[in-house]
Amino acid sequence: MVSVPVRICPNILQLRPYVPGKPISEVQRELGLEDVIKLASNENPFGPSPKAIAAMAEHLKDLHLYPDASCFELRKKLSDKFQVPPEQILISNGSDEILQLLAYLLIDDPEAEILTCMPSFGLYRAVAAQTRCKSVCLPLDQEGKFDLEKLSKKISSKTKLVYIANPNNPTGTIVTDAALREFIGRLPEGAVLALDEAYFEFATDDPNYPDGRKLVMEGLPVVATRTFSKAYGLAGIRVGYGFAPPEIRDAFDRLRLPFHVNSLAQVGAIAALDDEQHLNKTVIENRRNRDRLEKALVSIGAKVTPSHANFVWAEFDQRSSELFDKLLRQGVIVRPGHLMGADNHVRISVGTEEEIDRFVLSIQALVKAHVGS
Ligand SMILES: Cc1ncc(COP(=O)(O)O)c(C=O)c1O
Repeated sequence: MVSVPVRICPNILQLRPYVPGKPISEVQRELGLEDVIKLASNENPFGPSPKAIAAMAEHLKDLHLYPDASCFELRKKLSDKFQVPPEQILISNGSDEILQLLAYLLIDDPEAEILTCMPSFGLYRAVAAQTRCKSVCLPLDQEGKFDLEKLSKKISSKTKLVYIANPNNPTGTIVTDAALREFIGRLPEGAVLALDEAYFEFATDDPNYPDGRKLVMEGLPVVATRTFSKAYGLAGIRVGYGFAPPEIRDAFDRLRLPFHVNSLAQVGAIAALDDEQHLNKTVIENRRNRDRLEKALVSIGAKVTPSHANFVWAEFDQRSSELFDKLLRQGVIVRPGHLMGADNHVRISVGTEEEIDRFVLSIQALVKAHVGS
């Protein structure tokens, strides 16, 4: 390594690199294990839709061409499916691109404030540091939900952006339509709610669950973000989308990089939207296996937060870092809560039935050994 004296901006140095869920190949390499399962990143255990795989395979021969910078076909597909004008649809390199760039669009004042709760998706706080503004970050309520009442007391003329994950990651909880509307009504003019609906498809069976698309179409100051990474099983190709007021769509297109959504992602997403069967199977199996996982966790004495997503947040009598290490040695990768400031919690993605059973066997043995020690 050869160093050079460069000055990196202090607000960037203050950021911590994102710690992703450990890849299976890394655990295999480091621990010499062959059979490893990953229940750490809330991916789709059934993989991408076969229609998406076929469309992407067919597209490989065209990879010498730049992608369609306007994402015309995908935008039209989303517009038809959700009955939202193309001018109000954002398409992005993963939904985290929208969540990040939104702050760049709205904030140019160090006194401006971003409001959110923690633990939640780590990006929300990182963008506050990136845009050199303040983040006001409250704890979740007792039930692991975004505390809209306390959060609304922090709203002021400085509030420019609020991040709410619904369902929340890592707790899997939701805020209701009524509570959210009341909260939005308290925002000052010019402020925007970024409603992160990365796990939307898993939560729609609850009648009180709000639909961000509707809020946007009613003209409320909301940007609702969604993704192809979770229920659609396309995390590896990085494509997300969102619904927004036209002014934000216009500004987003000025700021984003020219070819930010690659062509494989565009054809894969279009085909995935056509595969209702794969989506339905994913959602139904998730509900069944989530139920199985929650019951098993309760039966071994863990405290479980009832989930509306494709993962479960559970509290144990042991430190999450220790549980994580022990599970890893058995070839099971989970997400330890200490990374999110919750030392005794673990987040487990809902895998296939076999994966859940394997996890349950491992955790049962570890909990038993801990009680007996
Ligand atoms: C709450 C939440 N929002 C956004 C994302 C980002 O998803 P992507 O950028 O893959 O669309 C994630 C990913 O884990 C998430 O959990």
